Amino acid sequence: MAAVKRNLLVTSALPYANGAIHIGHLVEYIQTDIWVRFQRLMGNRVVYLCGDDAHGTPIMLRARSEGLAPEQFIARMNQEHRADFARFGVQFDCYYSTHSPENEALCHCFYERLKTGGHIVHRDVEQFFDPVENIFLPDRFIRGQCPACKSPDQYGDSCEICGKHYNPTDLLNPKSAVSGAVPERRSSRHFFLRLEDFREPLQKLLRTGLVDSVVANKLEEWFGKELKDWDISRDAPFFGFPIPGETDKYFYNWLDAPIGYLAALARHLGGSAADAEEYWQMEDLEVHHFIGKDIIYFHALFWPAMLLGAGLKPPKQLCVHGHLTINGEKMSKSRGTFINAAQYARHLDPQWLRYYFATRLSALPADIDLSFDDFCNRVNSELVGKLVNLISRAAPILTRLLEGRTGIVTVEALPLLNEFRAAESALAADYDQRNFAAVTRRICALADQANKFVENQAPWSLVKSDAEAARGVLTAALECGRILMIYLKPIIPDIAASVEKCLNIRPQTWRDIQDSMPSHIIKQFEHLTGRVEERKIQDMLNENKAQATPIIASPAPAAAVAGTEPLAPECSIEQFSTIDLRVARVIRAEALEASDKLMKVELDAGPLGKRTVLAGIKKAYLPEQLNGRLVIFCANLAPRKMKFGTSEGMILASGPGGTEVFLLSVDERATPGQRVH
Ligand code: 2FM
Ligand code: ZN
Repeated sequence: MAAVKRNLLVTSALPYANGAIHIGHLVEYIQTDIWVRFQRLMGNRVVYLCGDDAHGTPIMLRARSEGLAPEQFIARMNQEHRADFARFGVQFDCYYSTHSPENEALCHCFYERLKTGGHIVHRDVEQFFDPVENIFLPDRFIRGQCPACKSPDQYGDSCEICGKHYNPTDLLNPKSAVSGAVPERRSSRHFFLRLEDFREPLQKLLRTGLVDSVVANKLEEWFGKELKDWDISRDAPFFGFPIPGETDKYFYNWLDAPIGYLAALARHLGGSAADAEEYWQMEDLEVHHFIGKDIIYFHALFWPAMLLGAGLKPPKQLCVHGHLTINGEKMSKSRGTFINAAQYARHLDPQWLRYYFATRLSALPADIDLSFDDFCNRVNSELVGKLVNLISRAAPILTRLLEGRTGIVTVEALPLLNEFRAAESALAADYDQRNFAAVTRRICALADQANKFVENQAPWSLVKSDAEAARGVLTAALECGRILMIYLKPIIPDIAASVEKCLNIRPQTWRDIQDSMPSHIIKQFEHLTGRVEERKIQDMLNENKAQATPIIASPAPAAAVAGTEPLAPECSIEQFSTIDLRVARVIRAEALEASDKLMKVELDAGPLGKRTVLAGIKKAYLPEQLNGRLVIFCANLAPRKMKFGTSEGMILASGPGGTEVFLLSVDERATPGQRVH
């Protein structure tokens, strides 16, 4: 009897649209993609969804600093994110965005139902407001002295030194990390979701398998006290969805983010919010969310509460993973270990990272470490030395000496092949339970046996005395290689596809494990993957360090605003001299009407010619204060396309921003075009 096929809806957390995908993110996307590919290989029905988390103050500010409308900025990030995921073989059925009409419609439905159900309440909240930027400041954008231990330069929500959590309004000497201004306290009406209304079903959910028992036990403590109402509104200006029927109130981006899963589903179905809900409510549909341990609270409390309040079923499972460390430490820009997906892919094979992460991943939410020594070792000795080796040794002998024709496997190999096939159920269980480390261990142990068998049978010698016997051994080796590649297909899909091509067989599924390869002609062996060279890793880290350039786009890091830390790691004189600083004279300055910040400045840079620079100095200077003045500018900065035109350089200035920007002065005896040392 055929096993009942599962109906799965799988998501990875939606990455914020304000930065590039880095290898820390990739842990989750690779983990999810491996699981999804495994489920498909088994014949289960899977829809895999994701998209950009596109709303919120940080994204609004980032767009502003680039002189772009938020919509333009997030559209660019969306393209970049898609390209990054494609490089690593992460294949979504739909990669969408929370800034979409489907999501807005769904947010309205959720809100209306929660309101009608009496689950929304209002209260005044006092918050910090940045009078220069004219925005309410999220907690992470406020820095000040910890009210408990008095450490300086701490975030608005918690102290990194003593670990205390507090309200941003408790911080001593608070400063806006965006403009450096002293923030004002302002009160406004906020909307809250009453989580207590859902206490019972939420607690039941945790006790009945939403999360693994280790996580569940930890989360039980939430229910020891009252569940606090959750603030779901933000005040204008904000990049998000306006709350219907209200003025200057927006949904907090964490409200629309998980609803974005449903929006991606609607998009995938080519349908409406109602179609997505109908699909979600299918009785046999299992919803699995892959998330990092830092966002459990949102997915185990807020999201199920929203779903329950909206009359929808909660997810079946949260698959929680830990964070990535590199060589035992947090990813760091100065050590060059803050590695973007695109940077990695320029230097190293993405399939290696997929394999390596698999060797480190289990169902536990423990942090995983990428140690480059271990990475080299596993890729070179396991992936290349054991797994790929089987095919790369046997296939060329068969094509070179035996017309590339497979035959009947030698009888000596039958116990081995039986063992290979018998491993199927244990491997399937490991995959299904996300124990990929166990999967790779089992597969490597099988590969060891197969390599030993080939070594003992020595087909390269045997072929001289008994060609058919050698064909039988090589066929067995390739059969073992084929089965191994089916087992590995979810982890290294590109290498597995190359093996299928070389063996000249159709794309394999899990069912093919129990089948045999027909006697047929295989294709010329083509290189599957190479060994990692340590030099390439070093090149990647060095390039990365060099790119941690001292000229940093605003908003400046808070510690730098506070002046307690250098803005960037130490640089060598060689690195410094790659920046071409020159004197120039302002020919004409024009405040751009459509922009709050930007001034269009035409420069005469002497022998370098004329340049147009869009500078964020509109609030600090009037155009007439600039005309005719000498300034210093960076002449070899890559031209930057902005909403209002292309900027061909950067004028140097100090100060936190807003009205406090101070252009650097040059002695009037200097001449345009002169180099600044
Ligand atoms: O923590 C984050 O990176 C969020 N952008 C994740 C959102 S997941 C979901 F709720 F949308
Ligand atoms: Zn403290």
